[in-house]
Amino acid sequence: MEAVLGLLVISAGVSHGLETSCDAREDGCQCYAALGGTVYLQLTETTAYNQYSFYKGSTGARTEILKTKNDKWVMRDTPIKDRVHFFINNGTFRLNNTIRNDSGEYLLEKLESDGRLSGIIGLQLFIEAPVSSPQLSSECLSHGEMKVSCSSEGDGPQYSWTLDGQTVRDTETSPGEETNTTITLKKGLSGDLTCTVRNTINSDTVSRRISHCPEHSAEISSWARSGFNVFVYFQLAEVFILLTICLGSYCFYKKKTCPQEQDDGE
Ligand SMILES: *[C@@H]1O[C@H](CO)[C@@H](O)[C@H](O)[C@H]1NC(C)=O
Ligand SMILES: *[C@@H]1O[C@H](CO)[C@@H](O)[C@H](O)[C@H]1NC(C)=O
Ligand SMILES: *[C@@H]1O[C@H](CO)[C@@H](O)[C@H](O)[C@H]1NC(C)=O
Repeated sequence: MEAVLGLLVISAGVSHGLETSCDAREDGCQCYAALGGTVYLQLTETTAYNQYSFYKGSTGARTEILKTKNDKWVMRDTPIKDRVHFFINNGTFRLNNTIRNDSGEYLLEKLESDGRLSGIIGLQLFIEAPVSSPQLSSECLSHGEMKVSCSSEGDGPQYSWTLDGQTVRDTETSPGEETNTTITLKKGLSGDLTCTVRNTINSDTVSRRISHCPEHSAEISSWARSGFNVFVYFQLAEVFILLTICLGSYCFYKKKTCPQEQDDGE
């Protein structure tokens, strides 16, 4: 069976109840649908003059979901029957509130009006969790480099980075778990950093303006954490001493230059 990638159209950009459509009129289509969303599968142009049976499963082990005859369709008693609708006017099958168990092979059998089998079309449905809005976090390293992580939930996320519109390579995705990716930006880089995450269902992007890290930021920040109070007290003490000296010399100077005034006052 030759695998033809079905035409996938994302019609709604919201994170819940994503709708996808797939043109599955050719044998071997691969269709992707959002977990918890609605998928429209176009199985045939018209159901007129023929009978159709639509099955979940492969030829060996299959369950009939629905069948059509002329302008009528009959739903079989399956676990998915409450989530299914068939548009007989254009041969489109709709499945709501998809669950992971909906993934798998489906078969459409076309029968002539006399009941003779005249064609079988297979399709593969993949139910995948859409990617969520990516989150960025950054950290300054000791030599003025910046480590930025981008993370998202969802099935099979693929990450890409741009800095001021230029693709950034040199990324590392932790092996085994693909929930985030990290880049290390060289010293002195700044600009608009964008992380895009996509999978077969949807994509989302986050941008942030980054300014370069101070060269010894790591030492400064750790020193600042532990020594901040001492530093402040030291500065205050210094200011106090300076003020005392200034005041002292001012008084000393005043006493020396205007002794008469003070004498007059007394
Ligand atoms: C099929 O018909 C239904 C209802 O008339 C419509 O909502 C849907 O968009 C149609 N699908 C295609 C692929 O034409
Ligand atoms: C299935 O979803 C469609 C569109 O999202 C909605 O109009 C319809 O009422 C839903 N049907 C069921 C049985 O949930
Ligand atoms: C999962 O799908 C199979 C058929 O592919 C069905 O027999 C089974 O009952 C389903 N399980 C659930 C929880 O819907």
